[in-house]
Amino acid sequence: MNRFEGVKVLLTGAGSGIGRATALRLVSEGAAVFAVDLSGEGLAQTAAAALGPGRIATRVADVADEDAVVAAVRAAAGELGGIDVLVNVAGIHRTTPIDRLTVDDLQRLFTVNAVGTALFCREALPHLPDRTGVIVTIASSAASHGNPYMTAYAASKGAVLGFSLSLAAEVAHRGIRVVPISPGAVATPLVGPGLLPPELDLSYYGRIRSLFGAADPEQIAGVIAFAASRDAGYLTGAELRVDGGSHI
Ligand SMILES: NC(=O)c1ccc[n+]([C@@H]2O[C@H](COP(=O)([O-])OP(=O)(O)OC[C@H]3O[C@@H](n4cnc5c(N)ncnc54)[C@H](O)[C@@H]3O)[C@@H](O)[C@H]2O)c1
Repeated sequence: MNRFEGVKVLLTGAGSGIGRATALRLVSEGAAVFAVDLSGEGLAQTAAAALGPGRIATRVADVADEDAVVAAVRAAAGELGGIDVLVNVAGIHRTTPIDRLTVDDLQRLFTVNAVGTALFCREALPHLPDRTGVIVTIASSAASHGNPYMTAYAASKGAVLGFSLSLAAEVAHRGIRVVPISPGAVATPLVGPGLLPPELDLSYYGRIRSLFGAADPEQIAGVIAFAASRDAGYLTGAELRVDGGSHI
């Protein structure tokens, strides 16, 4: 399948996990991908693993740095010769019981997850073509379902979800689609050892586990590719929750 032949994709968070799997999937389907991440090493590993028929270019940038975002989007448009699809995957996670929540936690989570997404959308939109342009954002099932110790992360992802739905309404007159995707638990370094301090009562988590186990990043990448493809041409302003039935 070459669904993305000739399609130019700007992708953030491509140095690991879901973003890396998305880069590999899109390149395998023919896309030209401009991959952005804070980690040059992560980007190099992604680029080394990418198998055509598409191609990949990389750039180290901090999505939370406005000047860096402006420069990265300009570089992407120059390198690719335009931008058809923007996929915002870069994000961070912190778990903190409410009595230990800090302003630093709140600000960092909002700046990377919500402000970073908003900046990329603002900068990329003038490049996106009317009628075929697509923006995919990554929220989280935590945006609309309670998770213990995730108040700040959930709030930042709620911001991503609300931002995406309003943006979908704002750009619909141009025929540009905006699709927020909300994964449940995905097996990536983001949720590896160290995310949950051992003193926390993890029995709370029992009720939000999927009987399918955690997703592989490739399972989320497949849904991102669908949302970004012409197969999803009538899909916009609707959250796709991909959580293995955790909240049935
Ligand atoms: N893993 C999960 O269970 C899960 C669930 C729901 C949503 N998500 C979301 O999916 C997205 C990808 O997460 P993942 O699980 O693949 O994590 P990951 O840690 O494997 O990958 C995140 C990538 O984002 C990059 N990044 C972080 N801060 C950045 C910044 N300021 N500028 C540029 N790049 C930055 C990291 O370097 C990393 O390569 C995140 O937005 C995350 O919140 C993940």
